[in-house]
Parts: sequence; C-alpha cells; structure tokens
Amino acid sequence: MGKVIVLVSSKGGSGKSTIAVGLATAFSNADKKVLLIDADEGARCLDSLLSIEQNTVADLFDVLNDFDVFYDALVPVPELKGVSVILSPILNQPIDFSKLSALLKQVQEKYDYIIVDTKGQIPAERLSGLSLTADFIAVATTDFISVKNTGNLVSELSKFNIKCRLIINRFKPRDNKGKKICIDDIIDSARARLLGIVPEDKRINSFGKRPMSLSVASAAIHRIAARISGNDIKLPKIKDIL
Ligand SMILES: Nc1ncnc2c1ncn2[C@@H]1O[C@H](COP(=O)(O)OP(=O)(O)OP(=O)(O)O)[C@@H](O)[C@H]1O
Ligand SMILES: [Mg+2]
Repeated sequence: MGKVIVLVSSKGGSGKSTIAVGLATAFSNADKKVLLIDADEGARCLDSLLSIEQNTVADLFDVLNDFDVFYDALVPVPELKGVSVILSPILNQPIDFSKLSALLKQVQEKYDYIIVDTKGQIPAERLSGLSLTADFIAVATTDFISVKNTGNLVSELSKFNIKCRLIINRFKPRDNKGKKICIDDIIDSARARLLGIVPEDKRINSFGKRPMSLSVASAAIHRIAARISGNDIKLPKIKDIL
C-alpha cells in the first residue's frame, strides 16, 4: 500500500511544489513508483517545473468527476523513472478533497508514494476531506508570518485529528535584519514535529537542466525522503547543510 504525502502551507510560495518535485526525484532515485498530483487549483505548475507535456487529455478535475479517465490523465516524467503526474485544472475549478481521497484509496496499491501538492491557504476543514491515512507536511519559510500562520494551520488540522510534520524551507542562518534565526523558536511557533530543514539555494530550480543532486537543497530533500521512508537520518549540524 503506497504512502500518501500531502504538502500544505499557510501561505503561498513557501516551496511546496519545489519540495514535491524534490521528493519525487528522491523516490525515483530509490527506484520507487510515484504518483505526483498537482492539486493547486487554478495555478498548475508541475508541468513547467518538470518540463513535461501540458496538453493532457484529462486533468485532476476530470479524473475526480470520472475515475475511468485516471489512466488518460497520467503524464510520465521522462527524466524521472517511475514518476507520473496528474496535472491540476487550468481553470480555477475547486478540488473536492473527499473525491480525491476516494480516488487515492483506489489507486494506492499501484504506487510506493503518492505526493499531493496543494495550494497555500486551503482551510483545514477542506483538507480534512482527505480521510485516508496520509502524512501531512506543512512547509514554512522562516519569516515570522509564515511560521505563526503555520502554527494556526497545524492547530486547525489537529481539530480534525490530522497530525502535521514540519519542513522549514529556504533556511538562512540570519534574517533580513541580520538577526540569527532560531530553529527551536520556529518549531515552538509552528507547533509541529520537525521533519527537515531545506536551505535557501539558488540552484534549486535546476531540474531539467542539471540533476538536482548538485544542490544542497536537493541533498536536504533526499534526507527528508529517507525519513519519510522510515530511515533514521539525523538532522545534520546547521553549518553542514548550508
Ligand atoms: N530552498 C529554496 N531555495 C531557494 N528558492 C526556493 C527554495 N524553495 C523554493 N524556492 C523558490 O520559491 C518560489 C516558490 O516556490 P514554490 O512554487 O515551490 O512554492 P509553493 O509553495 O508551491 O507556491 P504556491 O503556494 O504558489 O503553489 C519559487 O521561485 C522557488 O524556486
Ligand atoms: Mg505550488
């Protein structure tokens, strides 16, 4: 039975799609079969991040209305062995998370990992439609607003018995004012167990041009993938991840 990973955030632009692609890359490198679902209604982006075919026969909205078109909607990623993508609708058609849950239950056996990349700021109540067992991961950047709102999202999700783990993305040792960033403070405010820290890295979008393995962020995402797979990978010292 494949593991379902749902990437969420309290605001847009925290790095969910980048991390979704990074995780898919890591699982592909480990010879796993992966389904990547672009559930960002109205803002399809995985096609450009992965440099894949955009003219699909069916998108996620079509699949949720007719499970029979599931196979028509799968787009293979030539550069990532074992990875297929279902793209989000281009129009802003809302995704029904209960239907998505039903779909995932049907196809879960066919994959090792299913990664659901959501849009930022989806209310916890809507996300709670995903009633299957899934690893929810909140992606936050280090700025105060992102961290505080992540804490609120994590609390809201807990009301629906959804436990969330935390990825701190775009980590830099100091904020824009030069003040040292304290990981413990971020974890306390976000109220979630830390799964990993991905550093700020200009080469992170090198997918399709260069292997992501060249970037320090990619190395951090590979460690996160290993933790998701159940391996006990220690967090390296901050000076070693930058
Ligand atoms: N670790 C990182 N280092 C540097 N840049 C990053 C990092 N992670 C993400 N980015 C950049 O941040 C921007 C937003 O990333 P991304 O699109 O993955 O966020 P998102 O959470 O999916 O956004 P949205 O909520 O709009 O879907 C992109 O330009 C991406 O290249
Ligand atoms: Mg995104």
